[in-house]
Amino acid sequence: MKTYIVGNWKLNFTVGEASIYLHKLLTALPNYRNIEVVVAPTAIALQPLSLQVDRHKIKLSAQNAFYRDYGAFTGEISFSQLRGIADYSIIGHSERRYIFKEDDKMIAKKVEAAIRNKVMPILCIGETESERAFGETADVIRDQLVGGLSEVSDDDIDKVIIAYEPIWAISSTKSAKLATPDEIAEVVELIRKNLADIYGEKVAENVPVLFGGSVNPSNAGAYLTVPGVNGLLIGGASLILNEFTDIIETAKRVRS
Ligand code: PGA
Repeated sequence: MKTYIVGNWKLNFTVGEASIYLHKLLTALPNYRNIEVVVAPTAIALQPLSLQVDRHKIKLSAQNAFYRDYGAFTGEISFSQLRGIADYSIIGHSERRYIFKEDDKMIAKKVEAAIRNKVMPILCIGETESERAFGETADVIRDQLVGGLSEVSDDDIDKVIIAYEPIWAISSTKSAKLATPDEIAEVVELIRKNLADIYGEKVAENVPVLFGGSVNPSNAGAYLTVPGVNGLLIGGASLILNEFTDIIETAKRVRS
């Protein structure tokens, strides 16, 4: 299976800055087979960057989109508009869930709309600090997984990526803590067990599961060797070119 290194730029970089960053990244990166490097710029940068990118080296991801293809939805962009521009879309990031109040029902519709428009969803799930403290992690993971995938048929589950992002480990969270490899391994196993319950054992093994939360060049190697982890979703460190390229090189080293 490929290793996914996904940079989530969140609300950072103007279109010009994003383009300069992409240019530098394209220059710095060799064409690593088996490492799928993906960047998720702000929505208005996707179209110009799609003309600039070399898709053999780097793919583009949206950070979000709406589930209806067109209509009276002021301010939204649709997955049908992203078709051919972005290969992936992050869906259900905790910032969407908690700041913009997206629930599992809406997230499920977005996952369905992405697949229908040939955009691969990166479905984010993860518990809060208090949910973990109250021993609710397994329930939250199951609910978000079952809820988010409720519109995905057996035939389409191979078009989905799951990202486990414990909210307490995301760098923008107040007093963020680093997740330990053991904590991650435990939840990733849970994710695969839930996937196996819904879609069967074989399928569960083949769905890529990424980890995200304060990933940086010093912990990327340890996180990438957690059993069942197929890649990383990186926020803060992906904004700094040499940190992001360091992580990609680490992936190349530990996964080949
Ligand atoms: P972080 O963000 O790497 O800055 O913790 C990860 C994310 O929110 O996707």
